[in-house]
Amino acid sequence: MRVLVIGSGGREHALAWKLRQSPLCQELYVWPGNICSQRVGKRLDLPENANYKHLAASALDAKIDLVVVGPEGPLSSGIADILTARGLKVFGPTQKAAQLESSKVFAKRIMMEAGIPTAAFEVATSKDECYDRAMQILNRDGGVVLKASGLASGKGVFVCHNEDDVNKGLDRLFEPTMRAASEQIVVEEMLFGREVSFFCFLGKGGVSRIGFAVDHKRLRAGDKGPNTGGMGCYTPVPWLPGDAADQVDSLIVEPLLKTLSKNGIEYTGCLYVGLMWSDKGPSVVEFNVRLGDPEAQVLALSDRTDWLPIMAAKVGTVTKRETHYQSPLPVIGYVMASSGYPFGEQPDVDQVLPLDLIEDTSDGAMVFCASVKSASSGIKTGSGRVFLIAASGQTFNAAKDKALGRIGKISGLWPQAQWRSDIGQSVLQYEDAVQSSVVRCPIVLGSSSPRRRELLGHLGLNFTVMKPLTEETPRQGESAADYVARNAYEKNEWICEQVAASHPQGIVVISADTIVVIDGKILEKPLSPADAKGMLSQLSGRLHTVLTAVRIASVNPSGIQKHKEFTVATDVFIKKLSGKEMDGYIATGEPFDKAGGYAAQGLGSFMVQEVRGSFSNVVGLPLAEVADSLQTDFGIPLWRDR
Ligand code: AMP
Ligand code: GLY
Repeated sequence: MRVLVIGSGGREHALAWKLRQSPLCQELYVWPGNICSQRVGKRLDLPENANYKHLAASALDAKIDLVVVGPEGPLSSGIADILTARGLKVFGPTQKAAQLESSKVFAKRIMMEAGIPTAAFEVATSKDECYDRAMQILNRDGGVVLKASGLASGKGVFVCHNEDDVNKGLDRLFEPTMRAASEQIVVEEMLFGREVSFFCFLGKGGVSRIGFAVDHKRLRAGDKGPNTGGMGCYTPVPWLPGDAADQVDSLIVEPLLKTLSKNGIEYTGCLYVGLMWSDKGPSVVEFNVRLGDPEAQVLALSDRTDWLPIMAAKVGTVTKRETHYQSPLPVIGYVMASSGYPFGEQPDVDQVLPLDLIEDTSDGAMVFCASVKSASSGIKTGSGRVFLIAASGQTFNAAKDKALGRIGKISGLWPQAQWRSDIGQSVLQYEDAVQSSVVRCPIVLGSSSPRRRELLGHLGLNFTVMKPLTEETPRQGESAADYVARNAYEKNEWICEQVAASHPQGIVVISADTIVVIDGKILEKPLSPADAKGMLSQLSGRLHTVLTAVRIASVNPSGIQKHKEFTVATDVFIKKLSGKEMDGYIATGEPFDKAGGYAAQGLGSFMVQEVRGSFSNVVGLPLAEVADSLQTDFGIPLWRDR
């Protein structure tokens, strides 16, 4: 096949490199390309400012079988429609379909119609209207996001935590340069979770999954500094659940395609699904109608399948394709950007680098080029994002070492370059931790409470449950705090004794005890309906305290190796309860295995007017504190078993 890649960035360099390797590729062209991608494929003989009609004529002359469009700009101005109308096969969506990226209002409305999980939103047009809507959401939720509906090169989204952020965002959105993009503003709720993007190729024959990647948008390490187009990424994403792609398919991609089709739109090309992933699953932050940059570069390296037959099949050029699956390789990629990026357009100094430093692959690292110019003695760095340096390895750590080796050489000659050293920090640490022996040790939850089991399960750890057979009786003169701490301690010691001998590599034991305290008196689990009613009457219309004591210990046959104890207090205000409400609630049976006679997370939630402090603590396990201790004291990374 004769293939043409449209675009001139690092993403298109990666596309050219990837497609060139396909045994199906007879000839590869780029347009306009950059000096690096033009060394992978031939530049189509056409000036950079040619219009799409001239481009079509030139592509037909070159007998191009497949046009692959990299960037969103040409897609949203209808390049696919124009080239297709002239008989070319184009891997890239039509102008109508590209509205998923070029109009956030369109994208949100389609998502609503399709029932796709995404943040609730409103559309506003004037600054005053935006302000009112934003302040309503901010006052209710403590956060709000403002988005220009149109394309704004990554400068149209403001995540606001207070009124000052809202005002600053609105000033930027209503600047004259933003007029076209900001004709409509999407005001939406803030989503919480971890950001990750999913990529798939769509068209004839359905969905072909490419993979997940995590981008790092902020300029500087530690997620500091301004937002950028992306400073580096990693793929695959080990912290996602095993069925993540199935979830995205069934909750997002399939309903999207159905709804587009109902609206008379068929989608061909890459779909980029920007997601926020929380324990409730995925929620869509945005759609883009192309591969990401720099996600394309790391995906091209990581995914060992040939993309050309997949793309060709999507546009209906049927080719026989051998699909033998190989798992994706861990890849980390680092962007090197010019000194002024992202604000100053011009870098302080252009640097000329030798070509073989960029094109060498002998150390296992790859350099994809974006903003580069030719110089007589090599490559001149331009302004903006200049290179993405990526490597694959058997592990993320191996990949990182290879990529950093090359960055060291380049930055030796180009010290003004900006790059982030902490790309993929969480997956690198995760790998380190998995290698360490503490982590391999199993975990036991010493508690019979199904609520604690569920809460600990949120941390994505495999653990077994054992019921401690200890007495729980307050001693004379013992304070509530001492009593709850002693219970947690005794449960923990009891379990440690049972399991130590059979775990030569060690085992971590987590135990907890929860009590309700009012007027210095401890309320335990009610023994009868009358007992329950007595407790609820005491709590009615008043504030009480829930104390949970936790003990975590690691133990092996030679005894306890390390232990941590802490108690967390939460104040809870219960609304005034009528006798009818109490009787009705007691009749549900819920109060009987709950300290204080109610379940804050269950039917009893109707009576909980206010919670001051950790909510999970009230349910039975202060999760934030347990998560911190497991990670920092015991070196156990969260979600390692997902
Ligand atoms: P977008 O251009 O829509 O991808 O937004 C840019 C960035 O803003 C995203 O990558 C997120 O980090 C953040 N963002 C956008 N929408 C939301 C939201 N509803 N909640 C939280 N963060 C968001
Ligand atoms: N790296 C983010 C994007 O391509 O939109």
